[in-house]
Amino acid sequence: MFHFEQKTVFLTRFLAILGQFWVKMTFFKKSHMNKISAAITAVGAYVPDHVLTNAMLETMVDTNDEWITTRTGIKERRILKEDGKGTSFLAIHAAKDLIRKSNLDPKTIDLVIVATATPDMKAASTASYTATQIGATNAFSFDMDSACSGFLFGMSTASSFIASGRYKKVLLIGADKMSSIVNYKDRATCIIFGDGAGAALFEPNHEGLGIQDEYLRSDGSGRDFLQATYGGSSHAITHEVLDRGGHYAFQEGKTVFKNAVFNMADATTKILERNQLTKDNIQWLAAHQANKRIIDATAQRMGLESEKVMINIDRYGNTTSATLPLLLNDYEAQLKKGDTVIFAAFGGGFSWGSIYLKWAYTTNEN
Ligand code: COA
Repeated sequence: MFHFEQKTVFLTRFLAILGQFWVKMTFFKKSHMNKISAAITAVGAYVPDHVLTNAMLETMVDTNDEWITTRTGIKERRILKEDGKGTSFLAIHAAKDLIRKSNLDPKTIDLVIVATATPDMKAASTASYTATQIGATNAFSFDMDSACSGFLFGMSTASSFIASGRYKKVLLIGADKMSSIVNYKDRATCIIFGDGAGAALFEPNHEGLGIQDEYLRSDGSGRDFLQATYGGSSHAITHEVLDRGGHYAFQEGKTVFKNAVFNMADATTKILERNQLTKDNIQWLAAHQANKRIIDATAQRMGLESEKVMINIDRYGNTTSATLPLLLNDYEAQLKKGDTVIFAAFGGGFSWGSIYLKWAYTTNEN
């Protein structure tokens, strides 16, 4: 039995510990609420009208619908036909779609980033022209290129600008006119790629939604297997290069395939493990649309059911920087506030990674 004094000491200590706990909890709550995360608050997209089907490709190269469908999952892709219209044309339309859908005043945009492997020109950024054309007159802008990982890396970049606290609205556009570097006599590449663009608006979030974690990597030894060699600063385009079609993109598909399967699965596994995520608390996988078999392998490694895997490769093929935002736009109506979305991409460079994001809005509430 306690004496009176022992009881008082015990009670005082107990109250002191309780008090400390309360102060800590209040501080934790406040700091958590004040933490800025970058959330996607609107999306938009654009694909050109012209449809290039597998049947049409059969008349152009030695291929067939059955081979393309079973080996890649692609049925058709979109092509921007008109001369003089480049990647900015796609980017501007995607951004305008986002602006229209979300009633965004373009003058409030602080930064426009265009992720692309096919800029309009070698000098004069595509982003600068795009920003002006959409009326983002108070923004600064720049291009970034990491091939098929461009949008994923752009998400990390947009997120950092938001997290700095100095920028409130960052518009990230993934846009590529792949038809401008594809050789329609080369069946190893022309069956895969298509043109398109998608846009996402990043804004600060104080509810803990938006980007949670990222794992991004690159390995320059991979550039031998996927590149557009000529026309850059190391190899000029000559008459001889033009004659043999050397200015187009080249790909050693098998090596790219193996590296994509390994690295996308590895990156997503790392993100899942270090955030203690299991398949049950993941609602969506948004994976780069390069080959349906690569996407399936990634989902399988994560143990995800096919209903949770976003897919549009059948309709657009591989649109390089545009695949992820095109997915978000296509699935926007099904995404709910708080949904866990795992992004994954692999591309030329090599470059790859995964991002864990909590979706920030439900469409019918907007
Ligand atoms: N149509 C018909 N047959 C074709 C073909 C085509 N378009 N392309 C290749 N083939 C043939 C090959 O000649 C080969 O024939 P063979 O067995 O008689 O020699 C056979 O089909 C298999 O070729 P292979 O290159 O081994 O096919 P694959 O299963 O590796 O598929 C890709 C080729 C390009 C679809 C696949 O490698 C791929 O998707 N790679 C990654 C692409 C990618 O992610 N790129 C972008 C970077 S993100």
